[in-house]
Order: sequence, then structure tokens, then C-alpha cells
Amino acid sequence: MNNAFARNRPLWIAASLTVGLLVLVFIAGWLFGRGSEKKHEAQREVAAAHKAPVTHPDSALGRTDRRQIDALRRGIPIDQEAAPQPLWRVQNMDVKRERAYPMQPPTIPHAIDGYQVDKNSNRCMLCHARANAEKFQAPPVSVTHYMDRDDQFLATISSRRYFCNQCHVVQTDAPVLVNNTFQTIDAVLAAAEAGTATAEAAQRTP
Ligand code: HEC
Ligand code: HEC
Repeated sequence: MNNAFARNRPLWIAASLTVGLLVLVFIAGWLFGRGSEKKHEAQREVAAAHKAPVTHPDSALGRTDRRQIDALRRGIPIDQEAAPQPLWRVQNMDVKRERAYPMQPPTIPHAIDGYQVDKNSNRCMLCHARANAEKFQAPPVSVTHYMDRDDQFLATISSRRYFCNQCHVVQTDAPVLVNNTFQTIDAVLAAAEAGTATAEAAQRTP
């Protein structure tokens, strides 16, 4: 053993020097890292104090500042990169939704991926043409879709109603970006009626 040590002496010295050096570098790095981490922490605190986005509890995403014009940024300052939202899924439940007023184009209750609508073909009309309603059990487009601008009825779909997605849209499960106070016409009429009733009752009481 002693003999072996004596023979490899320079090698052992070199090895222990290397190990010692590595330990020194590690300690130096650790000390330096601790220092700069403290600095970063302080910077983060200052940044947070200055840039905390104003939130309103009534906004759908909980992060939308009313003064922020673009709700897509969700109140994140313009000099910071926003983490992207997940891609929302198209609702494909085949359940018709309420229409908010008489002439609202109904929203599409099924997915429309790959349904081509161009000059040569209209995939939507495969199912929604009057003639195909029986086969596909789809509601045929209403009579307004066959009317030209002079209210004349055409035999085929009017060019004004050819590009379905101009008016009809799918719905996704995304939360609303900006809250609104929209009421359906029925709610408005009911409120107006209740208001009139109260006013009349007030008039009747002496
Ligand atoms: C494969 C047949 C098929 C195709 C193609 C199709 N639909 Fe439909 N669509 C239906 C059926 C069936 C319904 C009835 C509800 C349901 O089962 O989804 C419907 C419902 C609708 C409704 C709801 C009507 C209401 O009264 O609420 C709209 C709007 C609509 N489709 C628009 C479109 C548009 C726009 C396209 C083309 C991008 C299209 N559809 C393509 C079968 C189809
Ligand atoms: C310019 C806007 C517009 C375009 C383009 C349009 N629609 Fe409509 N659609 C409406 C409106 C508004 C209604 C509801 C009132 C009505 O029936 O006219 C409607 C109603 C419907 C309905 C329900 C019919 C019913 O009787 O309940 C279906 C189905 C429909 N559209 C499918 C289509 C398809 C398929 C296309 C493309 C070929 C299309 N629409 C293009 C505006 C449009």
C-alpha cells in the first residue's frame, strides 16, 4: 500500500489539488449566487409593488382592468409578456341555444371543422338545404335565406346568405373577456311591464 502510494505520489497530489480547487469554486459560486438572489428578490418586490395589475372581482377572468382597452391582455402591463390562454373547445352538444331577439342569427350548436364554403361548394347546404332536411334532420335555412335585396324569393340560396359564417358562429367554452349587461328582449319587455304596473299602482293610490 505504502509502496503504491509512493509510486503514484504526483498523481495523488494532483488529484487532491483538483478536488480542493473544485470545492473552492463551489463555495465561491454558492456565496455569489446567494448574493445575487437577494438582489433579484428585492427587484421583484419593487416590480410587484409598482406593477400589480388592478383586478375587479366582477370580471370574468378576475384580471381585467376596466381602464385597459384591450381585454385580451388581461391587465398585464404592455412591457411584460402575457402567458397565453389555453385553446378553448368548440361546443359540440347539438343543443339549440336561446335567441336573444327575433332576428338574431342562431349560433351554431355543432362543430364546423373542415366544412368548406367557397365559390364552388357550400358544405353547410349539404344538410341545411330544404331538400336535404329529411335526410340529415337539420333545420332547413329559413325563407329569408332565399330572398334577394328586393324581397323577391329565389329558387336557390341568395348570394346575400351564401357565406353562412358571416352571421352564424360556433360557441366555445371560453369565459367572457369583458362583462356586459346585455338582456334578452323578453327580459327587457318583462321589466318594462313590471315598471308600468308599479307606476299605475302608484297613480291609483291616493
Ligand atoms: C352533417 C350535416 C350538417 C352540416 C354539414 C352542417 N350542419 Fe348545421 N345543423 C345540423 C343539424 C342536424 C342541426 C340541428 C342541431 C344539431 O343536431 O346539431 C344543425 C343546426 C344548425 C344551426 C342551429 C339552428 C337553430 O335553429 O338554432 C345553425 C345556425 C347551423 N346548423 C349552421 C350551420 C352552418 C353555418 C354550417 C356550415 C359551416 C352547418 N350548419 C353545417 C347539421 C349540419
Ligand atoms: C346575412 C346573415 C346570414 C347569413 C349569411 C346566413 N344566415 Fe342563417 N340566419 C340568419 C338570421 C338573421 C336568422 C334568423 C331569422 C331568420 O330565419 O331569417 C337565420 C336563421 C338560420 C337558421 C334557422 C332557421 C329556422 O327556421 O330556425 C339556420 C339553420 C340557418 N340560418 C343556417 C344558415 C346557413 C346554412 C347559411 C349559409 C348557407 C346561413 N344561415 C347564412 C342570418 C344569416
